Amino acid sequence: MGIAIQHMFDGIARRYDFLNHFLSAGRDKAWRKKAAQCLSGGGQLRVLDLCGGTGDFWKTWAEMHSGSAESGSRLTGSPCVIADFSLPMLLEARRKLVLPRNDPPKRAVPGLVRMDALHPCFKDGSFDAVLCAYGMRNLDSVAGGIDAINRLLKPGGMFITLEFFRPTTAFTRFFYHGLAPLCIPMLGWFFSSRRQAYTYLVESIRGFQSVWEYRDGFGQRGFRDVSVIPCDFGISHIVTAVKG
Ligand SMILES: C[S@@+](CC[C@H](N)C(=O)[O-])C[C@H]1O[C@@H](n2cnc3c(N)ncnc32)[C@H](O)[C@@H]1O
Repeated sequence: MGIAIQHMFDGIARRYDFLNHFLSAGRDKAWRKKAAQCLSGGGQLRVLDLCGGTGDFWKTWAEMHSGSAESGSRLTGSPCVIADFSLPMLLEARRKLVLPRNDPPKRAVPGLVRMDALHPCFKDGSFDAVLCAYGMRNLDSVAGGIDAINRLLKPGGMFITLEFFRPTTAFTRFFYHGLAPLCIPMLGWFFSSRRQAYTYLVESIRGFQSVWEYRDGFGQRGFRDVSVIPCDFGISHIVTAVKG
């Protein structure tokens, strides 16, 4: 399944950011911001944005910290990484995040690494924090993904998930079973000519774990202090967990 998912993201990379913001009426920015706020500490942290796509989650976190007193100079060159298995998504990230050569960098420039989240190419304990926005749902094995992230984190490191989970309330059921299947594939087709990708978006949410099943998965995998934060009545959720 991984290869099919990869090709799907390759095909929508150019329109990905626009459609993300459009389909969520801009709320995805607020959700990433709320999730990024869960990670305190500044530019000295080694952060991995896994399934990082066009880099919006990492960018949100970095901008939050480059505005602080410790500021850009410390962030510049910080050893953060955006990793994804889709090259076109990473090229979009590079276009957005890497500044022209003669423009002095005002914020950190992350490394961009093409890799499969289930087979990371970093040594164990390489990162202080791992971020993953809307990526876990696409993995062949969620448990395998959590185990890989556990290995990548230093002891005490934080994993922040931002994700759409299987709906469990009346409101989210109405949203994901009524509204979303009607509107999202049609709008996705209209703006990107990729109806299938946006049909997959809705189906993958409905077929994914509930946020409570996902939360319970951490207890058995060496994490502690797991917390769940709903965004906009549960349309999206943030889950934070600390490596034990
Ligand atoms: C919905 S996008 C999210 C992108 C970004 N995190 C964001 O907040 O917009 C999911 C991303 O996960 C990537 N992805 C899916 N499965 C992956 C895997 N097994 N390994 C690496 N990246 C993967 C896709 O290529 C895609 O860029």
